[in-house]
Amino acid sequence: MAQKKLSGEVFLPSKAVIEKATVKDWDVLNKRAQEDYEGFWSAEAENLHWFKKWDKVLDESNKPFYKWFTGAKTNIAYNCLDVHLTTWRRNKLAFFWEGENGDFKSYSYYYLNKYVCRFANILKSMGVVKGDRVTIYMGRVPELVFAMLACARLGAIHSVVFGGFSVEALHERLEDSKSKVLIVSDGSYVRGKIVDLKGIADEALARAATVEHVVVVKRTGHDINMEAGRDYWYHELCALPMGNQGCEAEVLDAEDPLFLLYTSGTTGKPKAILHTHGGYMVGTYASLKYVFDIHEEDRYWCAADPGWITGHSYIVYGPLLNGATSFMYEGAPSHPYPNRWWQLIEKYGINILYTAPTAIRGLMKYGDAWPQRHDLSSLRLLGTVGEPINPEAWKWYHRVIGRGECPIMDTWWQTETGMFMITPMPCVPLKPGSGGRPFPGLIMDVVNEDGESVKANEEGFLIIKRPWPSMMRTIYNDPERYVNQYWSRYPGYYLTGDSARRDEDGYYWIIGRVDDVIKVSGYRLGTAEIESALVSHTSVAEAAAIGLPHEVKGNAIHCFVILKEGVEATPQLGEELRKHVGHEVGPIARPENIEFVSSLPKTRSGKIMRRVLKAKALGVDPGNLSTLEE
Ligand code: PRX
Repeated sequence: MAQKKLSGEVFLPSKAVIEKATVKDWDVLNKRAQEDYEGFWSAEAENLHWFKKWDKVLDESNKPFYKWFTGAKTNIAYNCLDVHLTTWRRNKLAFFWEGENGDFKSYSYYYLNKYVCRFANILKSMGVVKGDRVTIYMGRVPELVFAMLACARLGAIHSVVFGGFSVEALHERLEDSKSKVLIVSDGSYVRGKIVDLKGIADEALARAATVEHVVVVKRTGHDINMEAGRDYWYHELCALPMGNQGCEAEVLDAEDPLFLLYTSGTTGKPKAILHTHGGYMVGTYASLKYVFDIHEEDRYWCAADPGWITGHSYIVYGPLLNGATSFMYEGAPSHPYPNRWWQLIEKYGINILYTAPTAIRGLMKYGDAWPQRHDLSSLRLLGTVGEPINPEAWKWYHRVIGRGECPIMDTWWQTETGMFMITPMPCVPLKPGSGGRPFPGLIMDVVNEDGESVKANEEGFLIIKRPWPSMMRTIYNDPERYVNQYWSRYPGYYLTGDSARRDEDGYYWIIGRVDDVIKVSGYRLGTAEIESALVSHTSVAEAAAIGLPHEVKGNAIHCFVILKEGVEATPQLGEELRKHVGHEVGPIARPENIEFVSSLPKTRSGKIMRRVLKAKALGVDPGNLSTLEE
């Protein structure tokens, strides 16, 4: 098909890329999906295993609580493991792992299944049954993957808490989910140092009451406290006879919950996004297959953390559903030297690398010589996610890491969407800084305050106009908030919380969040979490947090603090408060800067006007001030 001439700077796929690509014409696939949306998704579902097929593909009888594949019976863990065991993939590498200290482990599908069954039996022996919640708090180690799949196998609901979070963040998530079991590693390695995860967990457990048992995975081997009757070493449990039996996957309803993942929202405490077995499985399977076009011989590396949605969908579930071989690395990109990743790509012959703009910018700053010392010619496709990528970083990634030959999949999506929503495919012409068009079949729009589509290149609110299989089903414990936050602003349409523009070619350009979410190094944090950590300090009366542009992190957190009567504002106190936020929420939330002030701009109803603080800090016009108190 003749390509329409596209506006702006465009990178066309090479002949070699098109030859290898499974989808050679995006428009054909999109047309098929648009014309028969349910048919498109049911055809994808047919590629997976169902104990019983669905009666209906999409059930819209109780909007916005959409259901997918109703009446069907399945289990995502069965589709990740068991289905491969009767084929040649039984002996294929499911994933291989390298530790920050150079440790190496690898797992065939056969072997991975053994570990998962054993872990499932351990959980069963602790009384975990279908519907129970299990919290997982670990570094990037293989046992994290076993634990997630073990829960899925039993129909228990996992809630993974990112290993970079700290005491209060973990406590809040344990409490809200009412988890019965916590799976934790003794510690994790971060840039050569040990983070005492078990110590943090002990502090959080002292504040949370529902956890009956704790499974402790030994990773760092440093001294920790083990509470008799509550805490058990994983390796000791593995040695028990029950550990070696198989474990049948529970036959589950397609709509049975698979996991909770807490994420920051507009106000208040983090909310638990709920995903289900059936629809999430179909969405992650199909999206990864089409976008990263994984071939049997490929070695795929998603360098995210399993504690975030990117890790859930595209380190764990998506790759295993596709029978792929993936790589997982424990450490940071630039430790001990800025060539660590490039070394790994060369050593293992990685073909596909999926990472975030903050990592790309962080590595770019060390110059071209580091990657150029390595043979990166195995790379065929690159990917990015988490925040807008600036064209300069895009071009560096393309030219230096991708030799000017690897297309970059800039994938826009969210914890809530479960799968890629705006994304190119290898055969699609690319524009640096844009993720291109919506995934085949989806309908998205950019609208103004009144819900009318804005003109090409005008900024507006990004919305999604059609349900999709891997959409969140609700906010756990708070269905009302689900309706209000996502479906009420433009009734019938899903509000993403992002602003964007769409150009004359239909390519979307994400501008950023329009709510009180701050993206720091691609991590999603809420101003409310940071502020409540600050006011939990005895010296603080009130606090406001905003994000300001940062060269590597995308955004950095700046806080304004009103101290209690009689407390003196000193640089030492500022430092103490930064540390306090790090201790309560996690090191990623530690503010860049704390400014002591005597008042904060508020609306007449008492809400802090963060946009006024931000405009002042940036020296720009604060806009409409009619609601300002004084
Ligand atoms: O603002 C968008 C940004 O990340 C938000 C979702 O964050 P989270 O739920 O943590 O999921 C991140 C990983 C999927 C979005 O609302 N975002 C994500 N991907 C992109 C992006 N912004 C621009 N370009 C992207 N590719």
